[in-house]
Amino acid sequence: MEQQFISNLSTTSFSIEEGSVNAKSPSNIALIKYWGKKKNQIPTNSSISYTLTNSYTETELKFKKKQSDNFEVEVYLEGEKKNSFSPKIITFFERIIDYVPFLKGYKFTVHTHNSFPHSSGIASSASGMSALALCLVQIENNLGANLSEEESLKKASFLARLGSGSACRSVFKGLVEWGENNFIKGSSDLYGTKYPDTEIHEVFKTFHDTILLIHEGQKSVSSTVGHNLMNNHPYAEHRFVEANENLEKLIPILKNGDVKAFGELVEHEALTLHAMMMMSNPAFILMKPNTVAALEKLWEYRRETDKQLFFTLDAGANIHLLYPASDALEIEIFIEKELKAFCQNGNYIKDKVNF
Ligand code: PMV
Repeated sequence: MEQQFISNLSTTSFSIEEGSVNAKSPSNIALIKYWGKKKNQIPTNSSISYTLTNSYTETELKFKKKQSDNFEVEVYLEGEKKNSFSPKIITFFERIIDYVPFLKGYKFTVHTHNSFPHSSGIASSASGMSALALCLVQIENNLGANLSEEESLKKASFLARLGSGSACRSVFKGLVEWGENNFIKGSSDLYGTKYPDTEIHEVFKTFHDTILLIHEGQKSVSSTVGHNLMNNHPYAEHRFVEANENLEKLIPILKNGDVKAFGELVEHEALTLHAMMMMSNPAFILMKPNTVAALEKLWEYRRETDKQLFFTLDAGANIHLLYPASDALEIEIFIEKELKAFCQNGNYIKDKVNF
């Protein structure tokens, strides 16, 4: 058990009969990818992500005292009751009960809303688990834990990680690092850490992320299955070392504003994640034909213009287009004219980094 996150509240008597708290948390997009984990959601390598602005989850958590000694949770998504969501939350509660002593003392009702359509293929687990963890820490404070702002965020990140690994990075704004290494001060496997704004060149604080919805709907492989495929994968050990090396390489790039080197590294990371999945057993191809077609168009555009347009990918077919605000006007014309056609329903989401 992680002693620093054990609550100072008593485990039996809680002073509040009922109440409600709210939290809003954005999604994030990894530049250096987390792919592979050990027991208890410990990552096999360090990762770093941009926290987004427009893609977020808003959650209201209502709680009411009860007598029974089990977990009771009801979940509503966009106002509609979702019985299928409760087991996931209960699994999460089971994992965090040692750190959140009041989970069996109350009946919980979760009302959650995503700013992005559920069917878009944008994962809501990071923003959703982060928002829920922030709500739980608020309740803990209302019950008398009195954690400081810094302690509260760290604990929320620690709890969110136990819900969905990458969710621990959504608790903070800007660039957020997760995974212990010897080159980022304060880095930890247990929670995300805000990467210092003073170490980031201004250009990287202006980045846009336009998400091409190449394929809406469920991903072909869940991240749980994907992470597990890294066990006994012939190239996994090399990948874990390389990811850490890539993060170390990114540090001077972030500082000196080398946008080209940033793009090269970030695209390599995205393609490596996909290559790992193609080489796993069973194998998965996460891109769709239109993903490849759009990436080729993007590379052609970059060869022919001097615009700073780069991509990254999650474990799915959609494309995150990354570019600085200085080039946004022209790039957004190109997206509308050339790339939109590759989106399943002509849909894309315009987002930005959140500093
Ligand atoms: O947080 P999970 O278990 O859903 O894993 C997410 C992994 C990637 O999104 C593919 C990469 C990352 O670092 O966010």
